[in-house]
Amino acid sequence: MKSNSDILILGIESSCDDTSAAVIKNDKILANITAGQDVHKLYGGVVPELASRAHQKHIVPVVSQALAQANISAEELDAIAYTRGPGLLGSLLVGSSFAKSMAQALGIPAIPVHHMKAHVLAHFIDSSLPVPPFPFLNLTVSGGHTQIIKVSDPFTFEVLGKSLDDAAGEAFDKAAKLLGLPYPGGPEIDKLARQGDINRFSFSKPKVDGLDFSFSGLKTNFMNFVEKESRRNADFKQENMADLCASIQHTIVEMLMERLVEAAEITGIKHVAISGGVSANSYLRSQLATTAEKLGWHTYIPPFEYCTDNGAMIAIAGYFDFQKKASDTSLSQSATARWEM
Ligand code: KG4
Ligand code: ZN
Repeated sequence: MKSNSDILILGIESSCDDTSAAVIKNDKILANITAGQDVHKLYGGVVPELASRAHQKHIVPVVSQALAQANISAEELDAIAYTRGPGLLGSLLVGSSFAKSMAQALGIPAIPVHHMKAHVLAHFIDSSLPVPPFPFLNLTVSGGHTQIIKVSDPFTFEVLGKSLDDAAGEAFDKAAKLLGLPYPGGPEIDKLARQGDINRFSFSKPKVDGLDFSFSGLKTNFMNFVEKESRRNADFKQENMADLCASIQHTIVEMLMERLVEAAEITGIKHVAISGGVSANSYLRSQLATTAEKLGWHTYIPPFEYCTDNGAMIAIAGYFDFQKKASDTSLSQSATARWEM
């Protein structure tokens, strides 16, 4: 039942290859439905044109299913939040046009949401897990972004460091592709690495100033090494798969953790959170726990279904926004592939 003070928001996410819709009542998720896109597996990465076509196919059933599971009618909604950017323009256009049209038909606001802010605000979805107090640091690690952010309140985000080239998820995916593993490669490497030796192979880490990251050199280093060894022994990859996965994962995670430790030292903040698809990584999670123990940090990771792209994080961001009327909800807001935080 919805009381007069309850706020019901539909959140729609379509920035990359997942079409997702969620219904939130205040900070509680009533439904969170996601349709993935297997079509990209054939190509070893997301094909933008195929992604937007698949969003067009999925958007109506996904939204209908979310409303049905939440057991509410569209007329009960107070607002519709949608990912305005950043992301693939064709994909964003599908979700944003749908959200704005539906909001207009219902006479309710359409709230534009920043995808990366939503990954951070996923911590505030009501769950059994503790919520980070402000200010906290958030390492946002996904297929498209790698950022260390100081979060001072739900509307104030300061990017302390970011990747200058590839994202951490991209580094996982490209290493996996080279090893002949299916897309997305992050979860595959995570799984295979459990049987491997993290110290078997070492890869050079680039030197980057400040709190920024660079992963493209690591990818080249990994590629050159694997290709050289494969010329000597055609079965090199197969014979050393687990150790290769464990070693590259160890290097990526070490690069992330080194910067996070520096950011915590510089800011003096001991509340440290991670989010985004790569925060599902079991080795990153265990390294975070070990570091937290050593340095007296309190750590926060959203439940798994809110780590990867999902409508629920868009809905919670919309909920914060709705209460403060913080955004321009006019229909002239257009999807944007690039959007500064
Ligand atoms: O946040 P997300 O779902 O989508 C983007 O906004 O990009 O992140 C997807 C990324 C992919 O690169 C995928 O390989 C990576 O997250 N990923 C993982 C794991 N699960 C997902 N990377 C490493 N280990 C995992 N367990
Ligand atoms: Zn994302």
